[in-house]
Amino acid sequence: MTVPLLTADAVTKTFARTVALQGATMSIDPGEIVAVTGPSGSGKSTLMLCLAGVLVPESGTIGYAGRVLNNLTATDRATLRRREFGLVLQFGQLLPELTAIDNVTVPLLLDGRGRPEARRLAEEWLARLGAADFAHALPGELSAGQAQRVAIARALVAGPRVILADEPTGALDSVSAAEVMSGLVAVARDTKATMVVITHDNIVAAHADREIVIRDGRAVTQGRQR
Ligand SMILES: Nc1ncnc2c1ncn2[C@@H]1O[C@H](COP(=O)(O)OP(=O)(O)O)[C@@H](O)[C@H]1O
Ligand SMILES: [Mg+2]
Repeated sequence: MTVPLLTADAVTKTFARTVALQGATMSIDPGEIVAVTGPSGSGKSTLMLCLAGVLVPESGTIGYAGRVLNNLTATDRATLRRREFGLVLQFGQLLPELTAIDNVTVPLLLDGRGRPEARRLAEEWLARLGAADFAHALPGELSAGQAQRVAIARALVAGPRVILADEPTGALDSVSAAEVMSGLVAVARDTKATMVVITHDNIVAAHADREIVIRDGRAVTQGRQR
């Protein structure tokens, strides 16, 4: 029997009077690539932020590698996230005053890697995502799609064990979206990372091993093999 790597058990989360999650339960095995789909406002982003330890649920449990994530301090959650998770969020994740390549080196420098190695890895990842040409541009000079490629390079550069991506191709045209998505899946498979990707795009969902559908703050399907 496989021990799950990442789980949500009866998770609830409310914002003011909006119930975003009401008993969301799901379980992800090591190395799985899971697409999370569902209508807008169904709680997908909230669930991902809970899985990442950015948000803490009111009740229920987020489990990661045998630990209860929501019992850790904010500092411990941030450290865990930096060391083991690569997050691709929907909006505003690049530091506006740093060039693309500097944005990608930040996680490595925080991790104690030397500047030359960080630089080399950042260049390698930008190239892999088709972002080498604008490595020295500032985020404000990039299109949404270019910025998203840089953000993905930054999420992957430190070799995360878990990749959490919230509509990573939402800002891209369909050709770039297909390229970026197959790139993400290839990286996850190559590095044996576990990946959870939120998407509206059926083509994206088709790359996954399995699809979890969220409706009204609950996981309604957790089909095994697609
Ligand atoms: N920070 C927030 N403050 C207030 N309401 C929020 C916040 N984040 C999410 N919500 C609300 O919670 C519900 C679920 O949102 P979200 O998780 O973003 O859904 P999805 O990603 O599926 O579109 C929505 O009704 C949304 O408006
Ligand atoms: Mg969302």
